Amino acid sequence: MKTYKVKDLLNSTKPIDDVIVKGWVRTFRNNQFIALNDGSILHNIQCVVDFENTPAETLKRITTGAAVAVKGNLAESQGAGQKYEVKVTELQILGDSDAEKFPMQPKKHSLEFLRENAHLRVRTNVFGAVMRVRSVLSFAIHQYFQERGFVYVNTPIITGSDAEGAGEMFRVTALPAQNPPLTEDGKVDYKQDFFGKETNLTVSGQLEGETFAMALGQIYTFGPTFRAENSNTSRHLAEFWMVEPEVAFNDLDANMDLAEDFIQYVIKYAVERCADDLKFLDQRLFDEEKSKPQAERSELGLLEKLNFVLENNFKRVSYTEAIDILKNSKPNKNKKFSYIIDEWGADLQSEHERYLVEKHFKCPVILFDYPAKIKAFYMRLNDDKKTVRAMDILFPGIGEIVGGSEREERLDVLQEKIAELGIDEKELWWYLDTRRFGTATHAGFGLGFERLVLFVTGMTNIRDVIPFPRTPQNAEF
Ligand code: 4AD
Ligand code: MG
Repeated sequence: MKTYKVKDLLNSTKPIDDVIVKGWVRTFRNNQFIALNDGSILHNIQCVVDFENTPAETLKRITTGAAVAVKGNLAESQGAGQKYEVKVTELQILGDSDAEKFPMQPKKHSLEFLRENAHLRVRTNVFGAVMRVRSVLSFAIHQYFQERGFVYVNTPIITGSDAEGAGEMFRVTALPAQNPPLTEDGKVDYKQDFFGKETNLTVSGQLEGETFAMALGQIYTFGPTFRAENSNTSRHLAEFWMVEPEVAFNDLDANMDLAEDFIQYVIKYAVERCADDLKFLDQRLFDEEKSKPQAERSELGLLEKLNFVLENNFKRVSYTEAIDILKNSKPNKNKKFSYIIDEWGADLQSEHERYLVEKHFKCPVILFDYPAKIKAFYMRLNDDKKTVRAMDILFPGIGEIVGGSEREERLDVLQEKIAELGIDEKELWWYLDTRRFGTATHAGFGLGFERLVLFVTGMTNIRDVIPFPRTPQNAEF
């Protein structure tokens, strides 16, 4: 007897005798019909129990959440709603589940409640679908870069550098929390720590990635990154996954082309391979939005929105143009923005980004040439000496999904910038070496993986697209 996945049974084109299928009971009706799910597909297979010839003891143990193994025959179903069902000849309870205590009851639970039960929420339709889509998207990312000859680089998780210079790092230490060794002037003596220096969890693999691009030509990283920013929003995680391609000899225009092509590819890949799950998530979003006032509902459904991104070019707009648009916008004039834009140089808040994308352009936008003052040290200075070759990609409903730039490849300009910001040049000696030996134009970007998954699944809180979210005050599981 062969063991099948529910997916194979549901997609079968003919009846099959003698199948084994294992999974978890979603519901059990009329002492007869088990809806069995094994995670291979959104849908359940109906297993029909011969209740007259099954001991009452066994029937009682077929409860929501229980793990069971079923032997039987795949046959055409007489009932409406499914083409095939399994006529059970033998049923074994693998693991009981107390129906009263099992938190995932066969009813609608709030996303908040499900977050508190993140270890079990993946047994629901919504989270099963989201996590399958997440998996397919991460495969698509590798596929895209591998097909194009990019080398996958595993940059370090523990590092001594603050790539973004934003100081939002989690310290890594092996020193005792109580009475750590101190220096003469009373500070913690990290010379005595595990690495002999201060270290932290990486906020980005970019700087190490650049050194690899300057040898292997085109590389990408895809790994976890950590930020101790205290932003308790639906777009921020303390631990998130980032994809960072870096390409030697690319300038900012080539960088934008790559980012746009890459994003469209991975979305298309998911649309093609996750049709079932996305159709379900499309309906979920529609149902959720029904309860909202008209003005807050999205104009497009999930699948319409994904197709829109595939069929339309991203709009490329300079920061300066964007500031003009924002200055003259209604919410700015009516003081509806929390941060009023009154001059060039202002950092854009997510309300501004969303206005540009959702109200003004109504399509994904690539903003470029930002003021040097609001961007990281490594971005290439433009001839105007005021702006840098930075780019952010803004998505409807998400805001910033990508941040990237052409890098400052001129050693003297980079050293000047580092000095200006008070960064210790000694910390970056190895980074500066790439500018000392065979420097060249190069560019890259970082895509926040969870923000991509948010967009593709139509979920609205980033905590719902990563298995076990880490956010301020929360590291359960
Ligand atoms: O814009 P960021 O900070 O750029 C970098 O880290 C560059 N080193 C990337 C590069 O050029 N190689 O972060 C890149 C992306 C953001 O656009 C956003 O999508 C995501 O990472 N991101 C977060 N996602 C979830 N939670 C957070 N706290 C995030 N911070 C950034
Ligand atoms: Mg950014």
